[in-house]
Amino acid sequence: MTVDVYEAVTSRRAVRGFTGRPVPRDTLERVLSAAAWAPSGSNLQPWRAYVVTGGPLAVLKRRAGERVAAADPWDEREYEMYPAALKSPYRERRSAFGHERYSGLGIEREDWEARQRAAAANWDCFGAPAALFCHIDRDMGRPQWSDVGMYLQTVMLLLRAEGLHSCPQMAWSVYRRTVAEIVSPRTASSCSAACRSGSRTPRWVTPVRAGRRSTRPSPSSRGDRGGAAGRGHSPAARRGGRHRAP
Ligand SMILES: Cc1cc2nc3c(=O)[nH]c(=O)nc-3n(C[C@H](O)[C@H](O)[C@H](O)COP(=O)(O)O)c2cc1C
Repeated sequence: MTVDVYEAVTSRRAVRGFTGRPVPRDTLERVLSAAAWAPSGSNLQPWRAYVVTGGPLAVLKRRAGERVAAADPWDEREYEMYPAALKSPYRERRSAFGHERYSGLGIEREDWEARQRAAAANWDCFGAPAALFCHIDRDMGRPQWSDVGMYLQTVMLLLRAEGLHSCPQMAWSVYRRTVAEIVSPRTASSCSAACRSGSRTPRWVTPVRAGRRSTRPSPSSRGDRGGAAGRGHSPAARRGGRHRAP
């Protein structure tokens, strides 16, 4: 299936209802190997992605569902999802989003319980058969978080090229400890080993290999090399600065 980039971009939307039909492992591998070409400052590739499917995903959904049912408090935040006081026009946009989302489900603005029930579908991944959790080392800064955003958008567009949809979710961050019970290096290696040894049904928690070690030479960087903007001729070099180019 070929999808024009414009079509991939405009047909991507946050989908909140999936069939649960398993996605073949080679499809996910194709998407994730290509997504590894997403750009990042100094090619750090600061994303650490884990794919969770099959049994481990069912366990994760069950444990999260139990926490929701028990009205378990959310895990303490490592970051704020939104600024405490959203200013205009963001406040209005957020409120319009909430209105669209819940009125589309026939839920009244004041019906807090129904809203909570609808939101709880987040922790069932809206029925999706595969989840990708993306981690970043705590010592990375805002520029690296933007790298992760580019990576995730690349994944979502490539999924469109495979005829698949997705939904980005911050919601899982509130149950991050439950996620960590499933997505941990120890479980990851044992599950991916189990997967390698046999079954064609994807059932794995596996770290996604970054997939590339270097940058590709691009026509412009080849062309630039001898030019005024080429290496050794950057503004920093001209100023005698010691900063490395980003
Ligand atoms: C960083 C990020 C976090 C999001 N978290 C959630 C989430 O937890 N649950 C959810 O249902 N949608 C979530 N969304 C989806 C947004 O609500 C959605 O992208 C936005 O409303 C625009 O709609 P569209 O993606 O369909 O164009 C998230 C999107 C982004 C980019």
